[in-house]
Amino acid sequence: MTDYDVLAEVYEWLISDAKLPPADFAASFDDVLSLLPPNAHVLDCSCGTGQLAVGLAGRGMQVVATDASEAMVRRTAELSEEFGASVRAVRANWEELPDHFVDDTFDMVFCVGNSLHHAAGTTGRSAALESMSRLLRPGGRLVLTSRTWELVRSRGSRLDISNQLVRRNGRDAVVIYRWDIAPHWEDEHHIEIAIAQVDATGSVQVRSELLSCWPYQYEQLNADLHRVGLRTEASTFNLEAENYMLVASKE
Ligand SMILES: C[S@@+](CC[C@H](N)C(=O)[O-])C[C@H]1O[C@@H](n2cnc3c(N)ncnc32)[C@H](O)[C@@H]1O
Repeated sequence: MTDYDVLAEVYEWLISDAKLPPADFAASFDDVLSLLPPNAHVLDCSCGTGQLAVGLAGRGMQVVATDASEAMVRRTAELSEEFGASVRAVRANWEELPDHFVDDTFDMVFCVGNSLHHAAGTTGRSAALESMSRLLRPGGRLVLTSRTWELVRSRGSRLDISNQLVRRNGRDAVVIYRWDIAPHWEDEHHIEIAIAQVDATGSVQVRSELLSCWPYQYEQLNADLHRVGLRTEASTFNLEAENYMLVASKE
């Protein structure tokens, strides 16, 4: 069992209302998608439950979806079937991607939704980005979204409990994040995520997972990208915003 195999069962409680429909998740990337040729080959290399991959396939793209978690890949395959979308779903860690796909294959690679911080430190992150870069055709683009770790770390260790019940599939849940912020940037950090579902009788069923993560500063990320032949083309990075998107092209 890998990280996220438990959360995969209840992952929809962690996705915002705005990104739950596959078409809407894909639409949140409209600006970069407009740069793609018709029939583009795209890879979502941390696909989770598949909303983005299925949304991209719905636009006529050739989509491959990969994830380290078998349970996530299974959910992506199920969602594709539900929507009649043609998505090739494969279980693969970032480091394993070159074993599955030929170099210079994809027009765009997505690594979105707070995934890259799960790569183990500078070494793991560099290896992950190296794989993504290899699979892009020259001129192809990597699209990354990330937490603003400068902001997250400045708040220190804490507990975040949703101030509203989240309703999915007719069931309500309280979503809880416990942030374990280590003393130094390069240390292993932890996020424990719990989804506490409350039923009509008042009984509570909890699914939780303790995830490891290794935060990075924006400047560090840019340096890591540059080292693997990716040049930052656009970014929404802002020290006061929770998340940012970065687009880097392969030189
Ligand atoms: C926070 S979820 C984001 C999922 C999806 N992109 C989204 O936006 O909903 C992070 C995902 O990264 C995957 N992941 C973590 N480490 C990975 C690795 N080393 N290689 C590939 N995927 C990984 C997890 O299994 C999980 O599905």
